Amino acid sequence: MKFFIDTANLDQIREAQAMGILDGVTTNPSLMAKEGITGATNILKHYVDICTIVEGDVSAEVISTDFDGMVREGEALAALHPQIVVKLPMIADGIKACKYFSDKGIKTNVTLVFSAGQALLAAKAGATYMSPFIGRLDDISTDGLALIADIRLIYDNYGFETQILAASVRHTMHIMDCAKIGADVMTGPLSAIKGLLKHPLTDIGLAQFLEDYKKGN
Ligand code: G3P
Repeated sequence: MKFFIDTANLDQIREAQAMGILDGVTTNPSLMAKEGITGATNILKHYVDICTIVEGDVSAEVISTDFDGMVREGEALAALHPQIVVKLPMIADGIKACKYFSDKGIKTNVTLVFSAGQALLAAKAGATYMSPFIGRLDDISTDGLALIADIRLIYDNYGFETQILAASVRHTMHIMDCAKIGADVMTGPLSAIKGLLKHPLTDIGLAQFLEDYKKGN
């Protein structure tokens, strides 16, 4: 299972990278705005900064909603750095643009996926990654994890190579449940990743080991 961090915060990206478990980064316009990164020039520079910190794929989202605009933007994003993955919205022109980029060998991430039908279309268009937003489904009393399971079944039925990138992950149990279902990738906040570290018996056991070591020295 690949671990991506879902943020545009460089300190958090550095911290996750330093842990040695990071496979990539996802961003979106909201996450950029949250860090105060605005304006095309600053946003493009920020993507390059992220690419210099991590070794894996970095999703950079287009803001156009028409095919020509997405192609123009996506080509500019892809030219920024070899690690850039062009992130496209799950709309008709986004699927068309996904097919365009797939045919050119440029990596894509189809985002804002909320149904298995949308996931099927993204796979048909050759998406590298497809991002179902599980937290936002949970927010409206719909089972986000059930969607991941449905998509896993469908992709396995036909051998689609599109990677299921579980997104809008909000907490540690989301990560564990996605791992059990077989999501290829999860993207979440640093807090959810660090939550995997925690167990009181680990802390108690370590404290005991250190205390016993001191007794013998
Ligand atoms: O990866 C998608 C993500 O950025 C959306 O997360 O928490 O805003 O639903 P959230």
